Amino acid sequence: MLKKITEDIFYLGVNDRQKHRFENLWPLPYGVSYNSYLIVDEKTVLMDTVDVCYADLFFHKIEEALNGRPLDYLVLNHMEPDHAGSIRLLRRQYPDVQIVGNSKTFGMLAGYHGITDGLHEVKEGDTLALGRHTLSFYMAPMVHWPEVMMTYDQTDKVLFSADAFGTFGTLDGAVIDADMNTDHYWEEMKRYYANIVGKYGSPVQKALQKLSGLDVQTICSLHGPVWREHKDKAIAIYDQLSRYEGEEGVVIIFGSMYGHTEQMAETVAHSLAESGVKNIVIHDVSKSHASYILRDVFKYKGVMIGSPTYSNQLFPEVEAVLSKIQVREVKNRLFGYFGSFSWAGAAVKRLTAFAEQMKWEVVGEPVEQKQGMSPDDQAKCVALGKEMAMRMKKI
Ligand code: FEO
Repeated sequence: MLKKITEDIFYLGVNDRQKHRFENLWPLPYGVSYNSYLIVDEKTVLMDTVDVCYADLFFHKIEEALNGRPLDYLVLNHMEPDHAGSIRLLRRQYPDVQIVGNSKTFGMLAGYHGITDGLHEVKEGDTLALGRHTLSFYMAPMVHWPEVMMTYDQTDKVLFSADAFGTFGTLDGAVIDADMNTDHYWEEMKRYYANIVGKYGSPVQKALQKLSGLDVQTICSLHGPVWREHKDKAIAIYDQLSRYEGEEGVVIIFGSMYGHTEQMAETVAHSLAESGVKNIVIHDVSKSHASYILRDVFKYKGVMIGSPTYSNQLFPEVEAVLSKIQVREVKNRLFGYFGSFSWAGAAVKRLTAFAEQMKWEVVGEPVEQKQGMSPDDQAKCVALGKEMAMRMKKI
């Protein structure tokens, strides 16, 4: 049974409960959905496709929704294969379908699928009349990839937003937010943003400004629920994260081989709590997947990192996290750091260089501990936590 979003718009997406990792990188404890939509008017229009693994199921849905009608247009808002993977098969099934995209879309369409004909190119602000509905197109480059665009249905005031406002998590029965409990999607939306889109804060801000002039009643993203009741919350999360605006709280990230750096992390956390900070999250890099750590780096204003020295460098998993933060160019964080060593210290030096590269505000005195925790080391960790708590109160 197919779900309708409005009188003329069908939801044709699929759930992926099988993949362990999105992009073969990011864990999917709740799975993920690949969303596609069909507008049935005088002309019929499919909005994006799905991962090719689900093409058979997807084509059955298209057939059912078309109910004997031809497919006139396929709009490509995004060419990443989780959405564009079924295009070549779709063209075989519907050889007369006109493919709507921009010049960058068509370069990728040729490269991935060898398709160079039956194209309808659109530019910023162009419209496409379908009968009762009129679509307009807005370019949103780097709201994940360079060819990304968004499509707005002027009639039903529906925005087809590509990856934007998407989240990990399958659709477990309902499709529209008002018909479900959305609680578990919000943290997954932040994890999705931080890991997939996080590098592109400035393009996301440009897209949000562009969209602010539209009367959007419903957001149809390519992943996760259709946002209607909670659309303002979804927009606010994207706005906050893309401005790199952290909320009050501290994420403590540490690596530890034998517990000495962990003891420092615990001491700092205790001190933060004693000083009134309530939002404290601790991640052991050997246990937490980096995607959750990155989510919390995007989420909180305070970041504290601790590492032992390992082969005259950082603990390797801490180094890997630093690299992921650097790639995403996370801005405006309050940073405290600490490290331990057995005979020659390198960790604190490396963390100092990291703070300079990120242009983050260093809070308190970094603590460098030799071997086990001395009373002096403990006092320095307490002081570091206190300094961070005091600085946090001023934001
Ligand atoms: Fe869901 Fe950028 O693809």
